[in-house]
Amino acid sequence: MTIKLGILGLGTVGTGTVQLLQDVTGRNSLLKEVEIYRVGVRSLDKPRAVQLSDHILTTDLPAIVNDPEIDIVVELLGGLEPARTLILTAIKNGKHIVTANKAVISRFGAEIFDAANAAGVYVMLEAAVGGGIPVIQPLKQALSVNRINAVMGIVNGTTNYILTRMLHEGSDFNDVLADAQNLGYAEADPTADVDGLDAADKIAILASLGFNGRINREDVYCEGIRSVTKTDITYATKLGFVIKLLAIAKHLDDSNTQLSVRVHPTLVPESHPLASINGVYNAILVEGEPIGQVMLFGPGAGAGATASAVCADVLHLLAHLKINTAKTNPLLACRHQHYCKITPISEIVTRFYTRFLTKDQAGVIGKIGTCFGNYKVSLESIVQTGFEGEMAEIVVVTHDVREGNFRQALKEIAAMDTIHSIPSILRVL
Ligand code: HSE
Repeated sequence: MTIKLGILGLGTVGTGTVQLLQDVTGRNSLLKEVEIYRVGVRSLDKPRAVQLSDHILTTDLPAIVNDPEIDIVVELLGGLEPARTLILTAIKNGKHIVTANKAVISRFGAEIFDAANAAGVYVMLEAAVGGGIPVIQPLKQALSVNRINAVMGIVNGTTNYILTRMLHEGSDFNDVLADAQNLGYAEADPTADVDGLDAADKIAILASLGFNGRINREDVYCEGIRSVTKTDITYATKLGFVIKLLAIAKHLDDSNTQLSVRVHPTLVPESHPLASINGVYNAILVEGEPIGQVMLFGPGAGAGATASAVCADVLHLLAHLKINTAKTNPLLACRHQHYCKITPISEIVTRFYTRFLTKDQAGVIGKIGTCFGNYKVSLESIVQTGFEGEMAEIVVVTHDVREGNFRQALKEIAAMDTIHSIPSILRVL
């Protein structure tokens, strides 16, 4: 069985998605059943990073959503129109949707999901929030058995990058923004990111899933990071805080009817899990009962990461479409019989930390070093750290070594009459 995709848009995420689907070795084997059938683009003349046959590329986007051959429309255009109209037409034509478009879902979600329910199709949006971080599916499924108290996070990489650099360099917002634009980390028009609009779209979606209700996007309070100064960052540091642009959704009563949904710069205690999320990374912290806190962390944007989320949604739809013919859900069923080859521990390559207790005599460190050298164990450091009783304490950290070689050397060292014992042997990452 082959599932035919109509992809709308061949920008960063579209290109990443095509690349992933054209190179499926080592990935879920179900992806071999996905065919890139049509790809809609604005211009046929633009140079592309992916190879697609001429008959696949088209500038006629409505033709894709009206093509009876296509099972799934993957909307990667971004923006409100024509994305909304194309999604609604595809749904009317009985096609499932995969989208990365937080703006259209946060503003027109009610219309789109009503249409999808009426047509009996699904709208999948893993890529709309948190880039490659699986957060939509966990909120809809695994975490949904909990009573959710709060969903909060750092859901905009551009602003997190700017705030991280302001903190580390002591720089002003405008200087870092200009540099981030030069480096391609911030858009030429940074409004959606720095004014918090992108984060507000995303928290509206997360709140809706966490609290099982529709969120009016206009009700989401939104304050960006333009007003954050290096002076505030310095004071926050002195007080034990870091400043982060947090997107927060909390329930204020047990029935989930009263929510607080907001985006604003926030002083976060240094010990809080979100305080250590730096650079372009995103993280979403879910607090629920009885699970407690779960934090999902990863790359919030980028071609490959977002393509991972897009293709995960395609995979889920593919499994759904296959259930009728396969009679089982291929994502729930065990699909393999062969045993993987596991390398014996003696063959692994790792670093080691080892602590020796030895006689305090001349030449001990030399003998240890020579023996390691004989077995091709290269040392990163070897120090005498002090004494434990009568014994000298010597600590060794190796470079990456084959464990078997390290153990042989250690056996020989342990037999030396100057060595009292080897109390600790730990692997170093
Ligand atoms: N512009 C977003 C960010 C990525 O900076 O995180 C796409 O959602």
